[in-house]
Amino acid sequence: MWPSSRLTELLNIEHPIIQAPMAGFTTPEMVAAVSNAGELGSHGCAMISVDRFRSEMHQTIAATNRPVNMNFFVHEPPKNNPEKNQYAVDLIAPLFEEFGLGAVPDIVPNHFPFDDDMLEAVLETRPAVASFPFGMPEQSAVAALKDAGIIVLSSATAVCEAVDLEQRGCDAIIAQGWEAGGHRGTYLSTEEGARIGTMSLVPQIVDAVSVPVIAAGGIADGRGIAASFALGASGVQIGTAFLTCAESATSIAHKMALLTAHDDDTRITKAFSGRLARGLNNRYVELLAEHQENLPDFPLMNTVTGPLRKHSVAIDSPDFVALYSGQSVTLNRELSAELLLKTLIEEAQALIYP
Ligand SMILES: Cc1cc2nc3c(=O)[nH]c(=O)nc-3n(C[C@H](O)[C@H](O)[C@H](O)COP(=O)(O)O)c2cc1C
Repeated sequence: MWPSSRLTELLNIEHPIIQAPMAGFTTPEMVAAVSNAGELGSHGCAMISVDRFRSEMHQTIAATNRPVNMNFFVHEPPKNNPEKNQYAVDLIAPLFEEFGLGAVPDIVPNHFPFDDDMLEAVLETRPAVASFPFGMPEQSAVAALKDAGIIVLSSATAVCEAVDLEQRGCDAIIAQGWEAGGHRGTYLSTEEGARIGTMSLVPQIVDAVSVPVIAAGGIADGRGIAASFALGASGVQIGTAFLTCAESATSIAHKMALLTAHDDDTRITKAFSGRLARGLNNRYVELLAEHQENLPDFPLMNTVTGPLRKHSVAIDSPDFVALYSGQSVTLNRELSAELLLKTLIEEAQALIYP
């Protein structure tokens, strides 16, 4: 039993917990484990091709017949700015030299946008839920998804975004607080203004929209879940806490950094992708701290950082890995997804129904 059944009924799940989609970190194995446990497993598909999406979707549905969520990026196309490209190449080149990585690659996008081909693949494979972190796709795509019975979720970092998402047909809204790990979902508000903590954001969004609200950002144990319900949310979306689960694709260097981090170790940086994201501080983040406003647009910056990240992972060094993490990182536990969920539910239930 939970204080609100709006989300569990909408998503046809037992417990109002969504394991956050995390492109590059979630796996079909993790999604299936979470959905089989009665929550909503989500897969971050922003960095995979249409073919790979089809294959990973098939792997997922072979492992669970419960609802799953597939997540895609929709965002403004980046502006190609040769001056900014050169600035980034000049900054990064000495690091490539230090590690013998050859020439810095050409700057091209390496994210797969949610285009017509991806839409077709989603309509064909029919996940129960599709979600989008930086606003909604074109209205025609939203209509096609909803006509196919697919529930559409998106995230808001300010009230104006939540109102916009509801108007565009979003079925439930993820209120992403400033504590959250990974990229900021801000798309209508301002980078500065939308630095709103989960505790402030959730009740204000709850008051502004009529669809269910899902709290996200800094929720990592039963206390965060119970607090989210007290703030009026109908459920929670949790990311960082799942990064240290056995089923995640998190690198060893990243897992070790998460498990030894302190509360004040996270930074907000554009250094990895060109878009603000929260992660643990490391040598690369420090090096680029003064240069953030001169970097190429999201997601172009990913191209130049790709080989450095791979090299860092290969030698188990955290120095150049994008150590995405939310602010509640010290609450992370090293459990299987199933055991983490069981623990979260027991902790939350004990607080909500003492
Ligand atoms: C490593 C990592 C990768 C993420 N990638 C995505 C993504 O691909 N799509 C998305 O909608 N959200 C992504 N997020 C954000 C989550 O959806 C969510 O807002 C966030 O994890 C909540 O905060 P928490 O990490 O403190 O639990 C990511 C978060 C992390 C930590």
